Amino acid sequence: MSTNKTRKSANVQWGGRFASGPSEVMERINASIGFDQRLFAQDIAGSQAHARMLVARGILSSKDGDAIVIGLDTISQEIESGEFTFSTALEDIHMNIEVRLRELIGDAAGRLHTARSRNDQVATDFRLWVRDEIDAVDLQLKALQSELLGKAKTHAETIMPGFTHLQTAQPVTFGHHLLAYVEMFGRDRGRFADARARLNELPLGAGALAGTSFPIDRHAVAEDLGFDRPVANSLDAVSDRDFALEFMSAASISMTHISRFAEEIVIWCSDGFRFVKLSDAYTTGSSMMPQKRNPDAAELARAKAGRVFGDLLGLLTVMKGLPLAYSKDMQEDKEPVFDTADSLALALAATTGMVSDMEPMIENMRAASGKSYSTATDLADWLVRVADVPFRDAHGITGFVVKYAEAKGINLIDMSLEEMQAIDERITNDVFNVLSVEASVASRTSFGGTAPDNVRAAVNDARARFMGD
Ligand code: ARG
Repeated sequence: MSTNKTRKSANVQWGGRFASGPSEVMERINASIGFDQRLFAQDIAGSQAHARMLVARGILSSKDGDAIVIGLDTISQEIESGEFTFSTALEDIHMNIEVRLRELIGDAAGRLHTARSRNDQVATDFRLWVRDEIDAVDLQLKALQSELLGKAKTHAETIMPGFTHLQTAQPVTFGHHLLAYVEMFGRDRGRFADARARLNELPLGAGALAGTSFPIDRHAVAEDLGFDRPVANSLDAVSDRDFALEFMSAASISMTHISRFAEEIVIWCSDGFRFVKLSDAYTTGSSMMPQKRNPDAAELARAKAGRVFGDLLGLLTVMKGLPLAYSKDMQEDKEPVFDTADSLALALAATTGMVSDMEPMIENMRAASGKSYSTATDLADWLVRVADVPFRDAHGITGFVVKYAEAKGINLIDMSLEEMQAIDERITNDVFNVLSVEASVASRTSFGGTAPDNVRAAVNDARARFMGD
């Protein structure tokens, strides 16, 4: 359908100035279609909004505008159904779609790029894509929190050892331990929401870098695409990739949380602990040792953190020192963001699956929680509270009691009152009320503490803060 009046040029993107085409290597290093085809839906949405605005401002006829919008819908269907053939010679998703549009509707397609550049176009597409991804991540994080909250409620009274330095420290409840992660994932959601709020400005209308002489309406396009406002400065609009860096920063911090939890699952599944059981759904066997059951999903969720950090550092390095405005370096922004999004989504899905799958081995946890004189602090606190001993002295007295019990190979609760009183005569029978792990956790009623009643209240509070109920 194209008219013969237009001279043929060497390249559809750059027009008449080039006499011959690029070398094969140039084409390969330049092309982004292999990965930026993931932006097709956002590219089409952005183009349709742009076309509608051009019509509203009298820059484009409504006949051409309609043809463009309908043609783009057809292309969207073609891509979704896998019928669309992507071409490396056409470099990127923007040119692939525009050239197909010309095949479908003829010369009107050439009017779509009025008052627009691929620089503001790609920045818009990519913001839309990251925004969609942030919304999807939020749902996944919320689902993970919901799963953790359910388990925390069920196990508000399940006692396990709490660790510092991975040494048994004081008994806590399993529910309380899980709630710690609910808070971490809640902050992650906050970071993604903050990133989204800053991201939500429209680059389109910045042109290549300087703005445009056409009487466009950037505010209308912003509203059409769900942005809060247009980016205020055209140079910044085409140069900024903070939004991608912020997404990857938030993802990196979230991956630290996922990897810490995954590491705990690995530890809990190990022979030295046996605190939880994972089913066949989240474990694998060994090709050599028939008895093995390995927590591979947890290990891989732990490992995904490494590549997500790498993605962030990679793009930080690409962006540093780039002069304004657009440079082709910035085409390297997409793969790390896609990789981060995919890795995070998979790690979150695996983690959520493991939480729902895991079965705590309550007896093992309880037995381990009483080891290593984990209630020694309760003895010291009792001396302070009941016998009015200064805490430093109580700490010293308790040290002697532990030393005695250790030498005898018994637990504090198995010592006789006489043995206790031989170390400090102020100790009375009442002390045995605080030395069990049950009494220990029940006494931790300070706000944010591990007492079962607290944990139940904390589950409700977290539901209200994070679940919207
Ligand atoms: N594929 C390019 C990118 O991802 C689109 C922008 C190209 N702009 C240009 N002036 N060549 O960055």
